Amino acid sequence: MLNVGILTISDKGSQGQRDDKSGQEIKNSLAPLNGHFARYEIIPDDLDVIQQKLMEWADNGNVDIIITTGGTGLSQRDVTPEATLSVADKTVPGLAEAMRAGTLDKTPRAMLSRATAGVRRKCLIVNLPGSPKAVGECLAVILPVIPHAIEIIKGVITDHS
Ligand code: MTE
Repeated sequence: MLNVGILTISDKGSQGQRDDKSGQEIKNSLAPLNGHFARYEIIPDDLDVIQQKLMEWADNGNVDIIITTGGTGLSQRDVTPEATLSVADKTVPGLAEAMRAGTLDKTPRAMLSRATAGVRRKCLIVNLPGSPKAVGECLAVILPVIPHAIEIIKGVITDHS
């Protein structure tokens, strides 16, 4: 059973000024994995708040994967990648590279996301851009490798020979 945390990062969303369609899109896109949505929150684009939430969930939250949406762009308030990298033990650049490369045919704006991914303890953290459309497109690219990634992180698979 895959335990999933969904972290929507949006100033407007956290103030109740915007429906969280992207968080819902994460749930819809992950449905084929039959995961359990263990945690869900909407928080503002604040470095400290994002760091604290990622650490809390990765360290004590019983989640295997945290998927964030939002805050990966170029505006001053976009700090999700910085928060993720600052709490990660390892980076997993290939996931974000694949999402950008694999969706460039949908929109050249895919290259404007600075999304990253990393591992903290036994938890995989993946950033997605903020729009529901981007969430669906990016998750379609990485979905097939998520179960294997989690098995390796949890130590279920140690050998590929
Ligand atoms: N990636 C895909 N696949 N599809 C998209 O529509 N939108 C882009 C980009 N990545 C998009 C995408 C846009 S317009 C921006 S500004 C950046 O993600 C950053 O978005 P964020 O700041 O909401 O995280």
